[in-house]
Amino acid sequence: MLNFSKSNLQIVTLAHTVLVNSPCRVTRVLIVCPVSTILNWENELKIWLPDGTFDALNVSEIASCKNSKAKEEKMKRWLDRGGVMIIGYEMFRGQANQKDNPSGQNLFTRCLVVPGPDLLICDEGHLLKNEDSQIYKCMNKILTRRRIMLTGTPLQNNMFEFFTMVEFVHPTHTLQRFDSDILAPFLPPKHEYVVSVKISEVQSRLYQQYLDNYTKGAVQPPES
Ligand SMILES: *[C@@H]1O[C@H](CO)[C@@H](O)[C@H](O)[C@H]1NC(C)=O
Ligand SMILES: *[C@@H]1O[C@H](CO)[C@@H](O)[C@H](O)[C@H]1NC(C)=O
Repeated sequence: MLNFSKSNLQIVTLAHTVLVNSPCRVTRVLIVCPVSTILNWENELKIWLPDGTFDALNVSEIASCKNSKAKEEKMKRWLDRGGVMIIGYEMFRGQANQKDNPSGQNLFTRCLVVPGPDLLICDEGHLLKNEDSQIYKCMNKILTRRRIMLTGTPLQNNMFEFFTMVEFVHPTHTLQRFDSDILAPFLPPKHEYVVSVKISEVQSRLYQQYLDNYTKGAVQPPES
């Protein structure tokens, strides 16, 4: 099953637009997402981009690579010729932190961090809600300020987490917000009915007992 969303479609069209229009000066787009949605992203790009357009974006991912050599080759190709790279958060953290190695010569740091991508998309961006977490620190080193965060659960009653996420994408807090209004056209109308029913005599007695005994603070309600 594929899972389409409005924001994913916006990202696909944006990535395509900036990659094929050279004045935008974007040659590498990096999508960082949970590993479970890598294939979904690839599929969305395939579905929304008409024949030939998809191929022109050189979309690739390294999760399916059998070994590190294959990963390096794909990364290097992305660095050299540009296009869209999709990577999981864990893989990003693991690779971006790598020290120099003889064959890669810090290839992953060059690909992912400095200079890194020209446009960064963070899917499920609430994973970056904690500025002390490894993944936040690691991703915040990415050079580009062109950062987009997608999340369906930004608030969770914690303004500091929310601030941290906004700070990641835009230190001066500009914010585009969609609330439940955008879903309203797709949902059936909500009807509320209030039905009043006269309580029976037993119910009335029990209720009176409750009021007499438990609402005055003298006797606590039984535990169970
Ligand atoms: C895809 O790769 C080709 C070279 O193989 C390159 O000419 C082209 O610009 C790349 N497309 C993008 C969007 O980077
Ligand atoms: C609760 O109140 C009723 C009178 O409404 C009384 O008969 C009964 O003994 C009270 N029960 C307790 C536990 O106080």
